[in-house]
Amino acid sequence: TFVVLSPCIDVKDTACVEECPVDCIYEGSRKLYINPDECIDCGACASVCPVDAIKSTRIVPASEAEFIADEARFFTDILPGRDAPIGNPGGAGKIGPIGADTAFVASYRR
Ligand code: F3S
Ligand code: F3S
Repeated sequence: TFVVLSPCIDVKDTACVEECPVDCIYEGSRKLYINPDECIDCGACASVCPVDAIKSTRIVPASEAEFIADEARFFTDILPGRDAPIGNPGGAGKIGPIGADTAFVASYRR
């Protein structure tokens, strides 16, 4: 799978969203999150991000490694303001912007 790393935080260009053939890039408050169960590994998103925020989990630098587990938590945790996990909705367009982040991203400082 691919993962959205720290350069996306507070930038949110969203060019990646249009590229994804399975619409599995979901919009949080400070960054976007790729659903690791829905991503088919096509890599199209990574090539269009202007700040190079998206990488295959196989080449994530150690300093950004926490984002791999955190990407999954966005879908499995109950986020602030929601009463159930997002899970695997099968398309970000169906549910729209989430308006929340994981605790890790909410408190992230560069
Ligand atoms: Fe973020 Fe880059 Fe997409 S800044 S929203 S990962 S195009
Ligand atoms: Fe979509 Fe990027 Fe995965 S374009 S299928 S999120 S590698």
